[in-house]
Amino acid sequence: MARFPDALNEQIGHEFAASQQYVAIAVYYDRESLPQLAAAFYRQAVEERNHAMMIVQFLLDADHPVAIPGVEEPRTDFGTAAEPVELALEQEKRVTDQIVALVALAREEGDLVGEQFLHWFLQEQREEVSSMSHLLATVERAGDNLLLVEGYLARTGDEDSPLEEGAPPAAGGAL
Ligand SMILES: [Fe+2]
Ligand SMILES: [Fe+2]
Repeated sequence: MARFPDALNEQIGHEFAASQQYVAIAVYYDRESLPQLAAAFYRQAVEERNHAMMIVQFLLDADHPVAIPGVEEPRTDFGTAAEPVELALEQEKRVTDQIVALVALAREEGDLVGEQFLHWFLQEQREEVSSMSHLLATVERAGDNLLLVEGYLARTGDEDSPLEEGAPPAAGGAL
């Protein structure tokens, strides 16, 4: 019995959990009157939701059962303005490990179609870990003056990733 479809169903939960955590971080920055940081995480939350729905679409296409798992409560209180970004970077590294494990499982079970589906996610993780480490470095360098981070994001925030064009289809359409 293949374990890969069950593992993908679990990953749907991890992606939705990441989305919820990013909403919580966005709300924290919104309350702190840091609109660019808030916008970056509101946007990231939507991306994570789209990742979940891409996996849903893959399972539908492959005629596997689809479960929409519940998620753990996100963390909502933070001691410093850098903490949410530290948490976000940890989360992206954890998700990278999860995707790598999924690829290894697909390969072990000879599911090359599933493995190919996940290649986009590997690239996406490389980009997300990289952009989150840059953001963390910027936040740490800014110290107490978070307006420097706001200025940095205002100048660099809205670059469209070339990855979006090759993204797998999302169930119901990507937001
Ligand atoms: Fe994701
Ligand atoms: Fe992510």
